[in-house]
Amino acid sequence: MASAPPPILTLTGITKSFPGVRALDGVDLDVLPGEVHCLLGQNGAGKSTLIKVISGAHRPDEGEIAWNGESVQLLRPTSAMSLGIATIYQELDLVEHLSVAENVHLGHENARAGFVRRGAARQTTAALLTRLGHPEISPDRIVATLSAAGKQIVSMARALSHDVKLIVMDEPSAVLDPDEVNNLFRIVADLTADGVAVVYISHRLEEIRRIGDRVTVLKDGRAVARNLPAKSTPTREVVALMTGRDTDQVFPDRPAGAPRAAEPVLRVEGLTRAGEFAPVDLDVYPGEIVGLAGLVGSGRSEILETVYGARRPDAGHVTVEGRRLRPGSVTSAVRAGLGLAPEERKAQGLFLLDSVTRNVSISSLPRFARGGWLNRSGERAAARARTTELSLRPDNPDVQIRTLSGGNQQKAVLARWLLRECKVLLLDEPTRGVDVGARAELYALIRRLADDGVAVLLVSSEIPEVLGLADRVLVLREGTVVHTAPARELDEHRVLDLVMEGSPA
Ligand SMILES: Nc1ncnc2c1ncn2[C@@H]1O[C@H](COP(=O)(O)OP(=O)(O)OP(=O)(O)O)[C@@H](O)[C@H]1O
Ligand SMILES: [Mg+2]
Repeated sequence: MASAPPPILTLTGITKSFPGVRALDGVDLDVLPGEVHCLLGQNGAGKSTLIKVISGAHRPDEGEIAWNGESVQLLRPTSAMSLGIATIYQELDLVEHLSVAENVHLGHENARAGFVRRGAARQTTAALLTRLGHPEISPDRIVATLSAAGKQIVSMARALSHDVKLIVMDEPSAVLDPDEVNNLFRIVADLTADGVAVVYISHRLEEIRRIGDRVTVLKDGRAVARNLPAKSTPTREVVALMTGRDTDQVFPDRPAGAPRAAEPVLRVEGLTRAGEFAPVDLDVYPGEIVGLAGLVGSGRSEILETVYGARRPDAGHVTVEGRRLRPGSVTSAVRAGLGLAPEERKAQGLFLLDSVTRNVSISSLPRFARGGWLNRSGERAAARARTTELSLRPDNPDVQIRTLSGGNQQKAVLARWLLRECKVLLLDEPTRGVDVGARAELYALIRRLADDGVAVLLVSSEIPEVLGLADRVLVLREGTVVHTAPARELDEHRVLDLVMEGSPA
């Protein structure tokens, strides 16, 4: 960089505590106009707290905020918004029962508006959606009916409906498939070309390399490295800064040529749902991890949910240890020993006011019941064992789950499924939102379950994850299994080719 422009935003010595936790401890950050400034750090490091300080959602206990060199107080979100700071939150904050256009114009002056202005609001919304590459989203659509990716676009449209100078994005790519990520990056490039600054959070280091300019690494509420070059800092160095240790091996070893049991635990034959997936045949043997690779919309999650009985197949059946399950019956599946850790983990069952322990143990409670009493210490110890294995923070099973960071909440729900003693474990995007360090631990845990004889069926949009963790991989394209091979015979390019081939550009 020749002569760097002065920062648009400067944070100095920002501190923020919650009861029992110092989430931010003297953090400095500066953001330049037109740059993509990435925040990296493990789950619970303080990233979301920091961006909530920037967006006026949290007031810092100590520290200074300067905007274009002038000290400012961001007392509430509208103070930040009026300076030109917009935020796309990790847990999107749209009003679900309102339309797209109404959401985009919430908080605008002309929102009070009658009929005529409503027309104008719809027009500007339509224009913004087109600019964001999604002209097909109608301004009149009710937000609740949109996919997670669609909601994010609406959140983005709302940000751009203001005169935005800085846009903060908290793990925007976590809900996107590769095409949608490309669209997001195109939007980011357009914004920065216009001089807009972007603060970007992601657990995917390859994204930081693609669009990042500078990186600030947070660890336990402190900035342990500032303004590293995003493209040239070695991954190993970044991970070591985040975790405080040197991690080399991410994926656990596969068992060396272990003899395969004669019979599969899980057998899926001719399973079909019109419009979702063509007849699928697959077997998973005890101790085996089978991966399903494919794009969002390729039918991956639908297959898992149908195997689990949460969707009713049009044809075909599922057999566990030779016993045929009742189609479309979760009860039948659970009785036979199936467990599903679903993709939308947060939406599917966090008990926000309950402790971490109860959120983890909830599906295994019968195990801790003795003669009408709940063995609470047994429950707590079992839950704790799982959360410790996943390095859930804070390491206190009694806190309310609502106080955990996004990634740690994910870990808790995952721990719930790992605690249940299943014969067949169906995992949908198990590492979404989970930091790089904890991923390695999660992979090791999944492999240990397999080594204990559990059959694992894994869905992930991250191809390296499927290739690194699974023994066997099924590649899906538009609801059809187009290829099956041992993971070690495939590489990422080959899988990408298979996944994309013939799909419309
Ligand atoms: N409202 C709250 N009450 C109590 N503790 C909180 C609250 N919000 C955050 N924390 C704590 O502050 C710390 C930082 O959380 P934060 O959400 O900023 O992490 P993060 O870096 O965004 O993590 P992730 O990658 O998991 O999203 C965590 O220890 C978390 O438990
Ligand atoms: Mg967060």
